[in-house]
Amino acid sequence: MDLTTLRAKYIEAVAAAATEAALEDVRLAALGKKGEISALMATLGKMDPDQRKAAGAAMNLLRDEIDAALRAKKAGLADAALNERLRSEWLDVTLPGRPRPHGTIHPVSQVMEELTAIFADMGFAVAEGPQVESDWYNFDALNIPPEHPARQEHDTFFMHRAPGDNRPPHVLRTHTSPVQIRAMTENGAPIRVIAPGRVYRMDMDQTHTPMFHQVEGLAIDRDISMANLKWTLEEFCRAFFEVDRVELRFRASHFPFTEPSAEVDIRYSNVGGQLRIGEGDKWMEILGSGMVHPKVLAAAGVDPDKWQGFAFGMGIDRIAMLKYGIPDLRAFFESDLRWLRHYGFAALDMPDLAGGLSR
Ligand code: PHE
Repeated sequence: MDLTTLRAKYIEAVAAAATEAALEDVRLAALGKKGEISALMATLGKMDPDQRKAAGAAMNLLRDEIDAALRAKKAGLADAALNERLRSEWLDVTLPGRPRPHGTIHPVSQVMEELTAIFADMGFAVAEGPQVESDWYNFDALNIPPEHPARQEHDTFFMHRAPGDNRPPHVLRTHTSPVQIRAMTENGAPIRVIAPGRVYRMDMDQTHTPMFHQVEGLAIDRDISMANLKWTLEEFCRAFFEVDRVELRFRASHFPFTEPSAEVDIRYSNVGGQLRIGEGDKWMEILGSGMVHPKVLAAAGVDPDKWQGFAFGMGIDRIAMLKYGIPDLRAFFESDLRWLRHYGFAALDMPDLAGGLSR
């Protein structure tokens, strides 16, 4: 084959190659070790010197020309690939952002995080217990005898037992106090825990829902007193409501599992639907509390002659309403998206004391 034909063949093949792989095949066929042009150049050795000089120059020229064509085409293909990427990955960064539908953190969850941060700072760990509880944990161990009104059907949700199973039925826990027993049984004394969670009572009106939230507090040591309880609750309220002045009112009360017992109200004002803590002439009950009854300590395996301390049970939904000015408790559990968007929190609003809780 003469060089002109060979030249035409490969220049055409280079032009026709549509991909870098096809181009590489052309290169191998022409200039590879076993390529046609390489083979031709190998014949130079057998020529006499004059012939070799002329043919060699022509072949070098051809080889360089095809090599140049291959390189140019390769660069062209790479450019085309880049342009295609630029075209398909094009993005107008000046367009306004498209908001995606997103959920919010429920005020109850937010408040649980807030109060956990505050009590953690005071040395309280978080304890947990089941929502379906045995009647022993929910009642007996807490010194609530079988005939106590709290046990009556209209307050408590009872679980079913299999027919023929005559053991007392489990209940949906009516308060977080059974976690006191579980925590002390597990860890003994001294102990400092809070236990936030869901509780259930058969009750439904403007200020009551059949499921609501409490946080139990328990501090047991050698010489813990009501004074420590008062200080702890006032500290908590100052941090939680983010005000310097809070006023708590301790009212003598009765719970079977504490002696003495007190219910605690917080002073607030309501001016045109705006709730303010620490001023005004209204009081909202936010918790029950007292010194843990010796029988309760004993039921949890803690020696009442050596240990004593306080417990409280606070309504989380109540303090959430007060802090965030939410007027109706029932709306908490209606899953109304408009309500959640209004009162909910952004997912990354993690409360912490250093950051100033709710910012
Ligand atoms: N368990 C009580 C309630 O639900 C509150 C409470 C807890 C009272 C701890 C005293 C001590 O009403």
